This record gives sequence, C-alpha cells and structure tokens, in this order.
Amino acid sequence: MVLGKFIIKNMKKNKIAIIGLGYVGLPLARLFATKYSVVGFDINTDRISELISGIDSTLEVDNETLQSVLISEDSDSNGLFCTNQLEKINDCNYYIITVPTPVDKNNRPILTPLLKASETVGAVLKKGDIVIYESTVYPGATEEDCVPILEKVSGLKFNEDFYAGYSPERINPGDKEHTVEKILKVTSGSTPEMGLKVDSLYKSVITAGTHLAPTIKVAEASKVIENSQRDINIAFVNELAKIFNLLDINTHDVLEAAGTKWNFLPFKPGLVGGHCIGVDPYYLAQKAQEHGYHPEIILAGRRLNDGMGDYVASEVVKCMIKKDININGSNTLILGITFKENCPDVRNTKAVDVINSLKSYGTNITIYDPWANEEEVMHEYALESLKSLPNEKFDAIVLTVSHNKFKELDFLSLKNKNAIIYDVKNFLSEKVVDGSL
Ligand SMILES: NC(=O)c1ccc[n+]([C@@H]2O[C@H](COP(=O)([O-])OP(=O)(O)OC[C@H]3O[C@@H](n4cnc5c(N)ncnc54)[C@H](O)[C@@H]3O)[C@@H](O)[C@H]2O)c1
Repeated sequence: MVLGKFIIKNMKKNKIAIIGLGYVGLPLARLFATKYSVVGFDINTDRISELISGIDSTLEVDNETLQSVLISEDSDSNGLFCTNQLEKINDCNYYIITVPTPVDKNNRPILTPLLKASETVGAVLKKGDIVIYESTVYPGATEEDCVPILEKVSGLKFNEDFYAGYSPERINPGDKEHTVEKILKVTSGSTPEMGLKVDSLYKSVITAGTHLAPTIKVAEASKVIENSQRDINIAFVNELAKIFNLLDINTHDVLEAAGTKWNFLPFKPGLVGGHCIGVDPYYLAQKAQEHGYHPEIILAGRRLNDGMGDYVASEVVKCMIKKDININGSNTLILGITFKENCPDVRNTKAVDVINSLKSYGTNITIYDPWANEEEVMHEYALESLKSLPNEKFDAIVLTVSHNKFKELDFLSLKNKNAIIYDVKNFLSEKVVDGSL
C-alpha cells in the first residue's frame, strides 16, 4: 500500500513555475515548456499582457517560438501559461526563481526582489517541492537569506519537507548563437539526492549538458566569479588603453600582436555596463567584507571600469580641441545608448556616463539608437533617444555601442567640416576615426 502510494507520487508529472519572466526567466520558461507544463509568473502586469499576446519586447525569444509554446489556460499539458495570479502556481512542484539582483547607489546588493519572490513561493510551498534559484548572488544567499523566508512563510522544514537548488544562468542577451539550451549549465541541490534531481531536470532540456556542483554555495560562487573575472580582465585592458594612449600606441594593434600567443586572453577595452558584469563583483565584495576581508583586485577593477565614461569623454574633448572645435555649444552625436550591441537592454548602460560627462563640457547631445526603447531611456535617464537619424550635421560623433546597423551609416553626411569621430569599440574603419579607446 505504502509502495503503491510512493509510485503514484513519483509518477506525478513535473510542473514547473518560473518566477520572473525577464531576460533570463522567459527563455528558460520557453525551453522547459517544450517538455513540461510550465507556469510563468511575473508581478509586472504589462509584461504578462505582452507575453500572453505572443510578444517578447526583450527580443530574447522570437514571437513565433514564443507563440509555439504558449497555452491560454493553466493545465497539466506541456506548454507555457503566463500569469500574475499566485493561485495559478499552487500545484507546481518545481519553483525556479529568476528575478533581478541589482545594487543600490552605494553599490550594495539589493536582495528585495529575491526575498519577495521567496515570500511568494513560500506561500504556495508544499511537501516535496524544490525551489531553485537562478539569480546571480553571493555565496550563501540561497541557504542563508532565502531559505529562512521559505521556511517562515510556508511553515515547512528545509531539507525535510522541501528542498532547494541553485543553477546560475549564463545567457548573453542579444547573442542568438549561445542560447540557453546551448550553454552548459551548473546545477546544485541542498542535499546530494536533490543535486541529482535538479541536475536531471536541467539535463532533460539543456542540450549542452550540465555540471553538478557539490553544494549550492559552490554553484553560487562559480557564477559570481565568472563575471568578476571578466570585469577584472576588461579593467586590465582598459588600463592598458589609458597607458598606450599616453604613449601614442594603438591599443588594438598591441592586443592583436599579443593575442598571437596561445595563452593570451582576448579581452578588449570598453565601457562595462549592464546588470551582470558591472554589478555582480559587488555581491562578492559585500560577502567578503562581511567576513572581514576587503577585496582589492575586485574593487580596483570596478573603480577602473566605472571611470571609463569620464575618460572617454575627456578623450573626445581632446580630439575636438586638436581640431579647433569650440566645445561649448558644439553638437555631438552619440551612436548607441544600450549597454551592449544588438540588444535593446538599457539597464545600467555606461553610455550615459559618457553623455553626462560630455554635457558637462558644454556640448549639446543627440542620441541615436535604433535598438533602444525611447520611453525607457526617457524614464530611466531623462534623456531623449532617437530611433531614426536626424537630418543634421555634428561636430563630434561618438560610437559607444557597436550595433551592426552603425556599419551602414554615411558618416560624411553627418559631419560638419572638421568634425571628429571617436570609436569606443574599435568598430569602424580606422580611416574614418580620429580616436578610439
Ligand atoms: N540578463 C542577463 O544577461 C543575465 C545573465 C545571467 C544571469 N542574470 C541574472 O538573472 C537574474 C534575472 O535577470 P534578468 O536580466 O532576467 O532580469 P529582468 O529584469 O529582465 O527580469 C526580471 C523579471 O522579474 C520580475 N520580478 C521582479 N520581482 C518579482 C517578484 N517578486 N515576483 C515575480 N516576478 C518578479 C520583473 O518584473 C521582471 O520581469 C539576475 O540575478 C541577473 O543578474 C542575468
């Protein structure tokens, strides 16, 4: 009899709730929906409405692919049902949390969305359920910050009644090649048995395979150091760019030459924006500081990268002065305001640092970005961004983001006599530019 019950319980179909349907949550929900019954839950009603109508404004999932998995009613059949109603995630047995983990103005981690999402899941948690976190955090956040909330709200006991897992996301927004199923995924669970369970869940959809980490803290730490490593490496080449500019040596020529050695890492100088590489190192730094260690390299890298906007602006101004352009009252065209190329994401974009710094020198700014949502830019930064080029000429053109569309621009028609072009990304032909990082 007991055995019969056990078999029936284990035969119950997995039903997955994804909490937070943004850049990370939606592609994951779409992928799981090809094999499981998935309920996508988000507190943003506008986001739910657009998804229900088959549109993803983040452009991570194309409309046809999204529509192919959408189901209009909550059911146990495979597919994705999107909702903002808590009761619709009641009968799930896996809860995967993919909410934002930003920092405040003092660069301290903001765990509020993660803790709120844990409250949400705590309210529907049942015996046997597994809660998997995907948001990028510092080691310890899942078990020390989130699990106590799950326990408190649900009244259930961790690792007896319910379990946890952590599987960091590695997607790269705008990258149509490395999509979620094609990136090997690190998995972990709160007990060895749960580790295997979480791992096999992901293995069933991630074609690139999985790596089962021994503990949740290991998996959490692995993600935060991936992004910290990139940040530090970019800071190093940014520092090189500053040195080589002083020495009048082309940084990219140096990197190309050094890159011919098999173990030289191919990083390029640039602005480090977005909500991952420029943010995650602060999570690790915070945890280190809580334990009495003041990270030196991690924070030096952050400081250097955060100062690049001002540096670029000062270099642009120097180029303009060399060509006798009167800075005060001049007109500057900024090409790109998103945080990276070929992607509409404007969160924590460092192009804004370049713009604000240039404005402080007295130049008038026009921003052209065919990818950015004008309202979002206005809302986030109180800046006007144009989706089509104005019929004007400029004294300076600064390429801050290497959107493919910028390759097609007729720069001559945009330039006033003597105007300069500064290329932050080393994206344009050397023949047309006056300066680059
Ligand atoms: N975007 C990336 O490139 C990327 C890559 C790897 C990891 N990550 C990490 O993944 C996490 C999510 O990032 P994202 O870019 O998808 O964020 P996002 O802002 O695009 O999406 C988060 C979604 O969560 C929703 N949300 C917020 N609080 C909620 C709550 N309490 N309940 C339900 N929904 C809620 C928001 O409305 C939003 O739709 C972050 O920790 C981020 O660092 C992001």
